[in-house]
Amino acid sequence: MKIAMIGSGYVGLVSGACLADFGHEVTCVDKAVDKIEALKRGEIPIFEPGLDQLVATNVKAGRLSFTTDLAGPVGEADVVFIAVGTPSRRGDGHADLSYVYGCAREIAAAVKGFTVVVTKSTVPVGTGDEVERIIRDTNPAADVVVVSNPEFLREGAAIGDFKRPDRIVIGIEDERAREPMTEVYRPLYLNQAPLLFTARRTSELIKYAGNAFLAMKITFINEMADLCERVGADVQDVARGIGLDGRIGSKFLHAGPGYGGSCFPKDTLALVKTAQDHDSPVRLIETTVAINDQRKRAMARKVVTAVGGDVRGKTIAILGLTFKPNTDDMREAPSLSIIQALQDAGATIRGYDPEGMEAAKGLLDNVTYTKDAYDCATGADALVIVTEWDAFRALDFPRLKTVMTAPVVVDLRNVYKAADVTRHGFAYASVGRGG
Ligand code: UGA
Repeated sequence: MKIAMIGSGYVGLVSGACLADFGHEVTCVDKAVDKIEALKRGEIPIFEPGLDQLVATNVKAGRLSFTTDLAGPVGEADVVFIAVGTPSRRGDGHADLSYVYGCAREIAAAVKGFTVVVTKSTVPVGTGDEVERIIRDTNPAADVVVVSNPEFLREGAAIGDFKRPDRIVIGIEDERAREPMTEVYRPLYLNQAPLLFTARRTSELIKYAGNAFLAMKITFINEMADLCERVGADVQDVARGIGLDGRIGSKFLHAGPGYGGSCFPKDTLALVKTAQDHDSPVRLIETTVAINDQRKRAMARKVVTAVGGDVRGKTIAILGLTFKPNTDDMREAPSLSIIQALQDAGATIRGYDPEGMEAAKGLLDNVTYTKDAYDCATGADALVIVTEWDAFRALDFPRLKTVMTAPVVVDLRNVYKAADVTRHGFAYASVGRGG
């Protein structure tokens, strides 16, 4: 099939490369000339394991190409994906749909023959109706069906998630979309991934409900972690103990400094707004959002406590800046709030991250960026693990002790067992392990 992927950001690029790998002929389109020029040279603008190789292979095979011209590839396409950004709108937390709607107008003007237009961007319920209306208004002769097909990719594991999904959700209003959409994902359902066809609005809501549920699950275990600290219990054992119940499931029960990233914070907020607009508030999610916001600053207080109650004049080493490992994405990273709060309390910050330091430089002031964990820890009164990169899972504690001013480790991801650290003479604090 011929596919046009509009938007060559994270979702568009990963989806485009994977669909090309399935054997489709994919053109990735983006307005950013620099990005397209870089992609043409084989440079991948984001960090995602395996993506550079996947892009190179499919470009070489002639199945994947890049352009700034939307009209050409859309005119030839059987299926056009909209994968442009839907950031939080400044001020009110609603998803900003201006890129999606702008894209719909351009697609309307360019389509030729029967075309399936698929919204892959995360969009509020009812956006598909609006995209369809815009296309019909712009070009009444356009023969299109508008489909919702949300993505469930995790950054850092996106290619695996695309190729081995738990399910594929496809929301349609017109039966003519069923056959081409089945064809797009044929290689996956040969792998037995269920294709779930629903109504379009249902599909749009599934995406938000999924992310909100996962955010709530993390927030639940984070609150249990606080309780564990008070009552002398171990949150990791609690998570295991409840996760073995098949109705609960063991995933997304890892306590930590609060969820971050470009999806959970934005999508939970957008769902809250949509629900309020429809007079059907989602109070569990409203509370989830509030608890998670407070949590990031509470983590800074944990660090202050670990160094004796006052960080003024002290140096704190932060290991891991990105919102999770295997990404260079700093959006809504807990490290941002934690560092800010520590600086407000008078601390000097040293930081290290394997991939996130470039992005961090634009977001944080007065941080000394370092070349590795040991350089970061040099002269520090405490070492704080904020993101669980593999590089921090086997730290050389005797070496750390020789470079640090005081032997204190705060492990906000529970990477270590207490004894692994304390036996080297460190004070150790973690999350939800009060026993
Ligand atoms: C998330 C969803 O997992 C994807 O299914 C979805 O497609 C994506 O959002 C999206 O909407 O595009 P992502 O934001 O890449 O993916 O990252 P996750 O791996 O879900 O992690 C989100 C945050 O939750 C991170 O800050 C992570 O550290 C935190 N987390 C995750 C925990 O604190 N505990 C856990 O047990 C799991």
